[in-house]
Parts: sequence; C-alpha cells; structure tokens
Amino acid sequence: MPVVTIQGILDGKHEGKSVTVRGWIYRKRESKKTIFLVVRDASGIIQCTVKTDNPSWIEAEKATIESSVIIKGTARQDKRAPGGYEIAVDKLSIIGLAEIFPITQDKSEEFLRNVRHLWLRSHRMNLIMKVRSEVLRFTHEFFRKEGFIEVSPPMFISTACEGGSTLFGLKYFGRDLYLTQSAQLYLEALIYSLEKVYCVAPSFRAEKSRTIRHLSEYWHIEPEWAFADMEDLMHIEENLLRYICQKTVKNCRREVESLDADISKLKAVKTPFPRITYTEAIENLMAKDLKIKWGEDFGYDDEKALAEEFGGPFFVYAYPRQIKAFYCKTHRDNPELVMSTDLLVPRIGEISTGGVREDDKEELLKRIRELSLKEEDYDWYIDLRRYGTVPHVGFGLGLERLLTWMLDLENIIDAIPFPRTIRRFYP
Ligand code: 4AD
Ligand code: MG
Repeated sequence: MPVVTIQGILDGKHEGKSVTVRGWIYRKRESKKTIFLVVRDASGIIQCTVKTDNPSWIEAEKATIESSVIIKGTARQDKRAPGGYEIAVDKLSIIGLAEIFPITQDKSEEFLRNVRHLWLRSHRMNLIMKVRSEVLRFTHEFFRKEGFIEVSPPMFISTACEGGSTLFGLKYFGRDLYLTQSAQLYLEALIYSLEKVYCVAPSFRAEKSRTIRHLSEYWHIEPEWAFADMEDLMHIEENLLRYICQKTVKNCRREVESLDADISKLKAVKTPFPRITYTEAIENLMAKDLKIKWGEDFGYDDEKALAEEFGGPFFVYAYPRQIKAFYCKTHRDNPELVMSTDLLVPRIGEISTGGVREDDKEELLKRIRELSLKEEDYDWYIDLRRYGTVPHVGFGLGLERLLTWMLDLENIIDAIPFPRTIRRFYP
C-alpha cells in the first residue's frame, strides 16, 4: 500500500482505495463500538475509525495524543467526518507511544510560548510555517527574475550599520565584535562586482521594545543595486510586494483562509503604491492632534494613524537627515533631507526602510563626522566611494513583519518558529 499524504485523501485522490498514512495522533474519542483517531501529518488532518472487531482495537486503545503512528486502511468519503473524508482503519501501528502531552485546550498563551517546541505541532503553526516558506520562495523567484544574484553576507561584523543602541556585542577571539543588524554595507561592496545583489539572512537587534512588531533576531530580505535612483527603488519594492501577495493568494489560499486572515487585503495590493513625503505625513499627523513635530521620528502610534488612512501599503519618503542613518544620500537641493523611504502597512506600520546611498566620498565623510562615528571603522566602506563610485539604492524588508501583516497575526513572534525577544530565548 502506497504511503499517501492526508491532504491527498482530503482532495479526493484516493477515494475507495487502500492507503497508508504516517503521522501523529491529534485527538482521540472513544465510543462503545468505535475509536475515532484524528491523525495529522505535515499536509493535513483526518479522522480514522477503528471498530471493536478490528485486531488493532487494543493498539488504538493504547494510543495516546501525539503518539506517532502508521495507519493502513481504506480512504472513503464521509460527510460527517471533518474535512469530508475518513480512513476506515485496517491496521494501526504505534511507532512512538507518547507520554501525557502537556498541551491541552485550556492552556495560556504564556504556557504555549514556554513549550514552543511542542506548540509548533499545532495546526495554526503548521499553516504559518508553510506560508512563510512560500513567501521565501516567491521572494527568491522575484529577485532572480529581475536579474539579482543571491549573496551570503557575514553575521559577525566590525562595522555598525544601524546605530549603536541596538547592537549586540560579543567577544570574538578576545576582540569586540557585533552581530549584524543589516547586510547592507556588505551588499554595497558586492554591487561593484555583481551590480544587482540580494540576500535573505538573519539580522540581530538588541531591541528593548516589547511590541507586537519587534524581535531580537529576525530574517531580513535585502537587495542592493547599482546605477539606480529613488524611482527605481520604489518600483522594485512595490513590485516585490505585489508579486508576493499575488502568489500567496494563488498558491496559499487554503492556508491563508484556514488562518482566518483577510485574503482580500492581499488581492487588493496593486501598484503603484501611494507615496507621501515625510513633511506631508507630519502635517497630516499634526492635523490629527498627534504630538509630533517636524524633525522627530514616527512612533508606532503615528505610523498606525497614517496607515489607517491608506488602508494598504504606502511609501513615506524624503526624511530629515537627523533621524536617518549615516549612509543616506543628502538631497542636493535641500541638505536638511535625505533620500530615504519607508514602506508602511496598516496595523504594523513600517515593514521596510530603503533609500539612495551617499555615493560621494566627501559627503559621506561629512555624515560620518556629523554623527561622531569612528572614521577608521568605516575605512573599507569609504573605499567603495574611492574606487569607481556609482549611484546605488537598496532596501531591507523584515520577513516577519511582512508575515504579521499578511496573515493578520496578533504578534510577530508567531511568524518565526523560535522567536527571540528581550524575554524569550528558550526553547
Ligand atoms: O529600518 P531598518 O533598521 O533598516 C536597515 O537595516 C537598512 N540597513 C536596510 C537596508 O536598506 N538594506 O530595518 C529594515 C527592516 C525594518 O523596516 C523592519 O521591517 C525590519 O527590518 N526590522 C525588524 N523586524 C523585526 N524586529 C526588529 N527588531 C526589527 N528591526 C528592523
Ligand atoms: Mg527603518
């Protein structure tokens, strides 16, 4: 008997046929004449019935929640069964008999987080991880179609990218190094050889903030490319998001709907995205009586207030230089501003930051000094402006923030299997 997936049975592919499935007992219910075992594998969940006259009855009685099993039986349609199909069991074999499983329906969120290694077996986490995998696939597809070359940046770094307050320091053979916050500076070096590069890699932030959108370890989608300007940047970025959303609607409909996420929001993602300047955004917020002044960075509440109006993804661009990183290119006709852009979405706010990089050596040095950064730390980076400097752009999109928005997750921690936050690093 061939081993089949449970989803295959639910899709009606094995109606009336003998099948073998392998998986784990998800739920169990017993009546006088029948034991109902709800079994899950990676693909889905199905009800299996064992009758009293079956020699496997004793094995079925013994089987506990989360025991791993192999089941041979007949797949058949049954309107009463959840999912519309069930397996009439011929033979049940327990592979690993489970001890009493600690997760029961009345458990708190906090408890589930402490047993994350077990909670990952839940139907909900199974679905989220599948969409995550697909979103990564779509991301790679998109960049490859656009001619980007995937590169692998270092995780140990000596040069900070996004400012000291969120840097994780570590001892590296007796020297002080950091965990990377962004691959950007290294991607910039690579464009001089490959022109269009991207990576999907972990970034680390010593985030003290406890919000629904902060992790201390997250996955960062970062492209960087040469001979490009702000227009090119926004264009690629909105096309990437549209591509991911459309493919998700097409290929992950079942998962998105089972997660009770609003699929119409993904369908509605059309380009071009609305764009407003930072200054327009400030005027808008001040008119709403939010306490923010020109020159200040947006807080989470400001971003949410802005995003509510647009109802979908939109860009804010042209930020004051004092709130953006040293590498941002200064507006040539207004030195107060830098050519940086954030992409925002409802409920989450910022999901990406990008911009034009300062490609002029003297301007870059000015910025480095202005921010009291150590010039010698950035010597290699300044080299990139010494030898064949070129206009270039790039952005960084947080995978988990994207998924939190796409799947209407309450908290970013459910977008990654083993979340790391200020309080959480176990398991
Ligand atoms: O805005 P950030 O700090 O920008 C950069 O790191 C640039 N160097 C990227 C680039 O231009 N290549 O981070 C980019 C994105 C944010 O918009 C957010 O989506 C995500 O990374 N991010 C986080 N996600 C989860 N938890 C955190 N603590 C995050 N910090 C940033
Ligand atoms: Mg940012």
